Amino acid sequence: MDEREQVPDSDNPSGSSGARVEAAQDQIAASKAVRQMFSNIAPRYDLLNHVLSLNVDRYWWWRTARRFRSILRRSDASVLDLCCGTGDMTLALFRQAGSGGACIVGADFAHPMLCRAARKSAGLPLHWVEADALEMPFADARFDLVTSAFGFRNLANYDAGLREIRRVLTAGGEVAILDFGEPKGLLGKIYRYYFRCVLPAIGTVLSGVKGPYAYLPASVARFPQPQEMLSRMKTAGFGEVNYTPYTFGISGVYWGKK
Ligand SMILES: C[S@@+](CC[C@H](N)C(=O)[O-])C[C@H]1O[C@@H](n2cnc3c(N)ncnc32)[C@H](O)[C@@H]1O
Repeated sequence: MDEREQVPDSDNPSGSSGARVEAAQDQIAASKAVRQMFSNIAPRYDLLNHVLSLNVDRYWWWRTARRFRSILRRSDASVLDLCCGTGDMTLALFRQAGSGGACIVGADFAHPMLCRAARKSAGLPLHWVEADALEMPFADARFDLVTSAFGFRNLANYDAGLREIRRVLTAGGEVAILDFGEPKGLLGKIYRYYFRCVLPAIGTVLSGVKGPYAYLPASVARFPQPQEMLSRMKTAGFGEVNYTPYTFGISGVYWGKK
């Protein structure tokens, strides 16, 4: 087995309770490996993202942010973009909020990713916090909206992540989780070939780091299917849960309310 393939949890042989990278045997090791991996690729992350997604990622961030315009435009609202990375989703939220809109916080546990986010947003009223999504330094009921773009899938424990998101939401607060999916049919076959063979090769050449772009397709394959994810959200205490696929299901957004 390739050392970067994911290993099932001992308490969950189906292996879908959280991300695993390298041969990480427990949640702490898995989290540490994910943080290290994103810290290593931070300098080339934006370039790689745009090249490998053919810039469609910009459309996905915009579409997700637009869905929550009514919250974002409220001057009394607080919004958290979790696993914000270099801040593109956070910036998309800010564009919808406009000046005088919600207070927006971006949080991530990879310091080099956050540094880039801070540099990209210099002069804008955005707040950056170094924090682990599984143990956030925020008070209960602090946010009206929590988003996470392509970050939630990397958590070492999905259910704990959902519970922690719910904890920091106000009653009636909303969650939006944007992540990759696996399209069906012929497109699915072409996409899987691109994702599993072409993308890791280009990613390795452009980033100079072997591993992260092999981890990406493996983490998507491990991520729960939409029905399972929605049921996990319900179990975590979210209501009105739903899923909207984007671009033939290559990605999609899960949302729900506390
Ligand atoms: C694929 S990047 C996505 C970044 C950004 N949201 C975007 O759309 O480009 C995933 C991010 O999740 C962060 N991340 C993963 N697990 C995390 C955790 N437990 N706590 C905080 N951040 C985490 C990584 O550091 C990384 O920056």
